[in-house]
Amino acid sequence: MTSILILGNGNMASAISEFLARASVETKAVGRGEEWDASGFDAVLLAVPYTAHEHIIRDHSEALAGKIVIDISNPVTFDPLARVRAPQGSAATALAEALPDSRIVKAFNTNYAGHLKAAGIDDQPLTVLASSDDRDAAAFVLDMASRAGAETFDVGSLDRAEAQEALCYLQMAITFSEANATEGGFVFIG
Ligand SMILES: NC(=O)c1ccc[n+]([C@@H]2O[C@H](COP(=O)([O-])OP(=O)(O)OC[C@H]3O[C@@H](n4cnc5c(N)ncnc54)[C@H](OP(=O)(O)O)[C@@H]3O)[C@@H](O)[C@H]2O)c1
Repeated sequence: MTSILILGNGNMASAISEFLARASVETKAVGRGEEWDASGFDAVLLAVPYTAHEHIIRDHSEALAGKIVIDISNPVTFDPLARVRAPQGSAATALAEALPDSRIVKAFNTNYAGHLKAAGIDDQPLTVLASSDDRDAAAFVLDMASRAGAETFDVGSLDRAEAQEALCYLQMAITFSEANATEGGFVFIG
């Protein structure tokens, strides 16, 4: 059985666990400060704010060596909503630079927690995007999402993560101006 270790135990940790359970993927979420051991898991998913990446890099780079590491973060500040741009282009490329022995995949950042729990937006299946410099790692992530019922797209190398982060920023800019802040969202039809 596929198994994913999730760092973080907030909204996205529970939404992604629920979503991936549809594909019979086993998940274990660990909260801040809890001990964890990634051996035995097929991948590690970072369900923490992008600002926590530096702690993970500092304390756990060895434990993450050789692992598929899934970055779902949206580097933004709120009130007012603004994008935060890493000098490397995206939070994912910054992670890849700091964790050169890990297999970084940017995915799920454009999928709101509520949509993951519902596995769709209205009657549309979710669109899950993945970029990576490791095609097998991207395929691994998209296979899970596809088995959970999503339409999936490998959008190419990790430098496209910048566009994924921009896409979610735009989605937030649109949906946060509505009464129900995260009801709407992008799906790809075609
Ligand atoms: N919510 C969404 O719809 C959505 C959609 C797409 C992507 N994302 C991205 O998903 C990530 C998680 O979002 P979320 O909505 O799940 O947030 P959340 O509910 O606030 O959960 C964040 C988790 O990260 C932990 N954390 C925070 N700062 C940390 C640190 N410095 N070191 C270690 N752990 C830390 C929190 O621990 P404590 O509880 O102890 O603070 C909590 O377990 C973010 O990067 C966000 O941009 C969110």
